[in-house]
Amino acid sequence: MFRIGLGHDTHRLGPGDGLVIGGVRIPHDHSAIGHSDADVLLHAITDALLGAAALGDIGELFPDTDPANKGRDSADMLRRAMDHVEKPGWRIVNLDCVIFAQRPKILPHRPAIRRRIAEILGIDEAAVWLKAKTGEGIGPIGEELAVAAECVALVERA
Ligand code: CDP
Ligand code: ZN
Repeated sequence: MFRIGLGHDTHRLGPGDGLVIGGVRIPHDHSAIGHSDADVLLHAITDALLGAAALGDIGELFPDTDPANKGRDSADMLRRAMDHVEKPGWRIVNLDCVIFAQRPKILPHRPAIRRRIAEILGIDEAAVWLKAKTGEGIGPIGEELAVAAECVALVERA
């Protein structure tokens, strides 16, 4: 049996010296803003997996009103979400993701990001793909007001 899930996330950009994307720190002249480490990609992946298993969303599992979630590592949230997904027997077939960012260039960091996501989830990095798109200079992405990410996740169980 197969199930598919979709995850989407957006974070504002503000003053800072880098972004954390897929658990990898990328030096930049801005940072993403959020109550956690603002890792837009790990948040989208978390929601895709929870959606595939019909187990809620990241905000339900880790409410931002709970002080315990302030500054929580997104890798830790993803791992905990995956524990929920694995409990009823789901395992990941593959993830396919898109980062929406005018800058910085993401592709040079793709190998490191894929490796880190695979490590967090305990899967083969061949099961993780990542693409990037600019906003063609227009809209909140293109004007560098925000970054966003999307992920589709396929899971299966016997
Ligand atoms: O060429 P097209 O309009 O389809 O895409 P684009 O958004 O102009 O991106 C051109 C190339 O830059 C693609 O190969 C993207 O994968 C890459 N890219 C990137 O590495 N980092 C970004 N933040 C945006 C795009
Ligand atoms: Zn987020």
